[in-house]
Amino acid sequence: MVKMLCIQVLALLCAIFVVEGVPTFSDVYHTSGILRLPYAELNEPFEVFYNKSAAASRMDFYGGMDKTYLLATKGTYGTSFIISPMTDKSGTSAAECFLVNGTKDGPIAIQSILPDVSQFKSIGKIIVRGIITDGWQLVVTNGNKKNTYTMAVLDNKPVQYEMMGYDSLLGSHYDKYIVDYMHYDTLPIDPKIFVIQDESKCGSFPGPGIEHHLASNPLQELVNPDKENSIHKLFDEFKNKHDKQYHGDDEHEMRKMHFTNNVRYIHSKNRAGLTYKLAVNHLADRSQNELKTMNGYRYSGVPHEGYPFHKLDMPLTDIPDAIDWNIK
Ligand SMILES: *[C@@H]1O[C@H](CO)[C@@H](O)[C@H](O)[C@H]1NC(C)=O
Ligand SMILES: *[C@@H]1O[C@H](CO)[C@@H](O)[C@H](O)[C@H]1NC(C)=O
Repeated sequence: MVKMLCIQVLALLCAIFVVEGVPTFSDVYHTSGILRLPYAELNEPFEVFYNKSAAASRMDFYGGMDKTYLLATKGTYGTSFIISPMTDKSGTSAAECFLVNGTKDGPIAIQSILPDVSQFKSIGKIIVRGIITDGWQLVVTNGNKKNTYTMAVLDNKPVQYEMMGYDSLLGSHYDKYIVDYMHYDTLPIDPKIFVIQDESKCGSFPGPGIEHHLASNPLQELVNPDKENSIHKLFDEFKNKHDKQYHGDDEHEMRKMHFTNNVRYIHSKNRAGLTYKLAVNHLADRSQNELKTMNGYRYSGVPHEGYPFHKLDMPLTDIPDAIDWNIK
């Protein structure tokens, strides 16, 4: 009798804790904000539409210039679409559509920009962008890596999600990113949002396979970082292709960190609708300082005695307003 009561009391406490505890986000939402990747020196504006029961998610970058659709029930194993501006040799830019079919081993799933917070623990009030919010945190230790995920929530709405990754082997932080949710609503989403215009014009994605998944779902490695992700697979491929040999685990981890940041940078720039595209080459595991040195920058400590450059002597009127090196 007493035992039963205890259990009942406990169950009641549990129920209260769950109800008033961990935030539960809606299965349908629309949010926009900024994705910040300080180590890759990136700040990307995004907009996400998510409807779980429609098995559809869409993420737009840079004001809709680049759109990625993940439609899990389209085709046998799901389909993803990327609509991205491409510039041709004449310098004309037009939106192009690319399609990736899911496969048995790699089905296309929808992707939320909200992490699963069911295992997060309360850390009390935290101030984010000047707003007093409820802080929720998860610390995941995996070998020499300790990742701390913090979610700031106000009235069941996400305010900010931060990931800080520390690597004891490197003795430093190896990763950090922040998602600032500036707008969030759970209003019905027009099904047209998930429909591709002129689907027949969508061609296959250029370049090697793993990068398609990264390009069509750039959030996966950020929101589910502890799972095996595309960048890790891409790094293995990169090491094989360029026959990379590293001295020990610490160099391996350091190279992987630079590679991750460089790949994020490459994909982000390719989404930005610029007049050029970037791609991974054999230097993608180098740091910015190493690349600078290879570019010939070697500071001697004293000013180099170059020839004087008198701007006023130059015929400034001959200089074109813009030059497109693509065409040259
Ligand atoms: C989500 O998608 C389902 C299936 O297409 C649809 O019936 C429902 O109205 C959508 N929900 C909202 C809130 O937009
Ligand atoms: C994707 O699958 C569809 C249907 O099976 C097929 O018609 C199309 O050619 C495939 N596209 C690519 C890019 O693999």
